[in-house]
Amino acid sequence: MNLLKQKIISEGNVLSDSVLKVDAFLNHQVDPVLMQAIGEEFASRFAGEKVTKILTLESSGIAPSVMAGLAMGVPVIFARKRKSLTLTDHLYSAAVYSYTKNETKEISVSQDYISSDDVVLVIDDFLANGQAAKGLVSIVEQAEASLAGVGIVIEKGFQDGRDVLHQHGIRVESLAIIDSLADGNATFHNEEAS
Ligand code: G4P
Ligand code: NA
Ligand code: NA
Repeated sequence: MNLLKQKIISEGNVLSDSVLKVDAFLNHQVDPVLMQAIGEEFASRFAGEKVTKILTLESSGIAPSVMAGLAMGVPVIFARKRKSLTLTDHLYSAAVYSYTKNETKEISVSQDYISSDDVVLVIDDFLANGQAAKGLVSIVEQAEASLAGVGIVIEKGFQDGRDVLHQHGIRVESLAIIDSLADGNATFHNEEAS
């Protein structure tokens, strides 16, 4: 997706060989025009899958997911990372290990919002090691819903998230795939689709 690549080049910051900072349009400040284009791109890639719900993870997955939900005409659910006062039982939950933070977090979704009749598209902002996406997929499985696939805004193609998901037979669609962050530059994979 060209608009996104241009934005990464012009406003992204390569913090190290493995970390890209995109606070200017995705992780802190949000660019609504870009998010709308992202939502439409996800809608077009997953058209024909009869998606009924989008599932993401708070907080940075919400903006692109809501725009995809708007484009597809379906509700968006965000899994919570913190235990909520009002969300205590009747939950699907999964443990998500973060390699960067070296900690495991419990993510959860109320059983009220996903059922076995649903076809769920999982969306997240980044794909690194695939642990967050795996946790979201586990929640879809617990609900005995169907999985349309995983949509990712920015994939770090030099980490193993895609392989982890493909091993489970999951379709992955990333709007930008970064091959390398070496020498302070983001270089992109030519093929955007899986
Ligand atoms: P994993 O889920 O793929 O295994 O990734 P990891 O544990 O390494 O990532 C932890 C957090 O860092 C996630 O956000 C993930 O989206 C984000 N992340 C991973 N690599 C990058 C990167 O190169 N750049 C940026 N900007 N983010 C990255 P989170 O903690 O869930 O944060 P948020 O959704 O509240 O923003
Ligand atoms: Na993030
Ligand atoms: Na995230």
